[in-house]
Amino acid sequence: MSNAAEKLKTLFADNPPRAFVGTYGCQQNEADSEKLRGMLYACGCVRSDDPDECDVAVINTCAVRAHAETKVYGVIGAFVPRKKRNPNLIVAVCGCMVQRPEEAEKLRESHKHVDLVFGTHVLHELPELLLRVVETRARVFETPQSDGVIVEDLPHARDGKYKAWLSVMYGCDNFCSYCIVPYVRGRERSREPERVLAEARELIASGVRDITLLGQNVNSYGRKSGSGYDFPRLLTELSQIPGDYLLRFMTSHPKDAGDALFRAMAESGRVARHLHLPFQSGSTRVLGKMNRGYSREQYLSLITKVRGYMPDIALTSDVIVGFPGEELSDFNDTMSLIEEVRFDALFTFIYSPRPGAPSALTVNNTPKDEIQRRFDLLAETQNRISGERHGGYAEKTVRVLVDGDGGPAEYPYTARTSGNRLVKLKHGTVGEFLDVTITGANRWSLTSDG
Ligand code: SAH
Ligand code: SF4
Ligand code: F3S
Repeated sequence: MSNAAEKLKTLFADNPPRAFVGTYGCQQNEADSEKLRGMLYACGCVRSDDPDECDVAVINTCAVRAHAETKVYGVIGAFVPRKKRNPNLIVAVCGCMVQRPEEAEKLRESHKHVDLVFGTHVLHELPELLLRVVETRARVFETPQSDGVIVEDLPHARDGKYKAWLSVMYGCDNFCSYCIVPYVRGRERSREPERVLAEARELIASGVRDITLLGQNVNSYGRKSGSGYDFPRLLTELSQIPGDYLLRFMTSHPKDAGDALFRAMAESGRVARHLHLPFQSGSTRVLGKMNRGYSREQYLSLITKVRGYMPDIALTSDVIVGFPGEELSDFNDTMSLIEEVRFDALFTFIYSPRPGAPSALTVNNTPKDEIQRRFDLLAETQNRISGERHGGYAEKTVRVLVDGDGGPAEYPYTARTSGNRLVKLKHGTVGEFLDVTITGANRWSLTSDG
């Protein structure tokens, strides 16, 4: 434990502060929040899940779309009255949004109730930064730009008993023209395979049944090390760890996915039959402007290939509507791609200009209501496809991992298939794999009456 954590622990010993951590970003942010919690507990704080009942609040932000930022400013603002009630409350804001200089400045100037702002590259310094706030009661801003570091062995307070995130790499070097992530997360860097393997072994030994390997583009894992130890090899070695568990991973970039990955997936009995492969646009012209590094045809041939290895694989994807210069014909290419592939589920986003990312400099001439129309049509079409695909599970017996028991009386249990489809169950035991027969389906989920 760091000196700062020891010192805080002593300071807090008589009256342990209740620490609330709110997460407003992607899986990477959730994984970071588990480390933030781990550090806070190492400093002598106790857990609070109620922002109204806390003495330290850490708000972990996202910058990927403007909406994510607007939402989080609402969350930050709600701490003004809380701080009036509890003047000792320490409010900290961290994560991707504060890595943008203009947002850090806005927090400094217009959100004076925020005590601590710290960026993605100094996440591990939370104890030191918190100690500075506690000792000086001054506002602390620490948002250095950096190529990025990997800090191992941070305390880690995991949220789930049976499901876990496992970061294999950080940052991104792909610089898709619309995306802010490379600017707020720094350069791509991979953890040592031994570290990843050791963490996976620990998780499996502790009873975790579902591990999701995380990285912005896991397919370029290890590439910079020059050792030739790549993601398919990591996946293969991970899946040799004995135990009853499933391995998932996200996200894969199509430009780096191919036979080696698909073969590793198909040959392993432990890798989930699910591939999340964002395509972003069905138009080669738009893909070029997005700097994605593949064409529509290349994407489609990957889909054919992966289905060749694993005909039952569940496919999901991300797509952006309304990229600057997207013509109706480009949008129609996106529509025909989703009809052709028939994804199990699709995450659809309206393009959001991110100052700092190159495409923000291009004026979008498409009217807002036309973009909305395209978005609605895409969502509606995918909903139909998802419903049809789910219908195909009827009467089939599938293996699921039961992961929740808080549902409504009729189907209190929730579970996930290997393809990550949600199944609602009448009976189950959380944390157990079960074979269930699917008796009902709609566009969002499957049900089993057995
Ligand atoms: N590294 C992952 C994606 C991370 S961001 C990948 O490349 O697949 C998650 C999704 O948000 C992206 O796949 C994209 O569809 C969407 N996204 C990113 N930037 C966006 C922007 N500026 N506007 C709208 N959607 C965006
Ligand atoms: Fe963003 Fe592209 Fe990197 Fe994904 S691969 S995080 S979309 S820059
Ligand atoms: Fe994730 Fe949002 Fe940051 S998507 S990497 S939390 S910008």
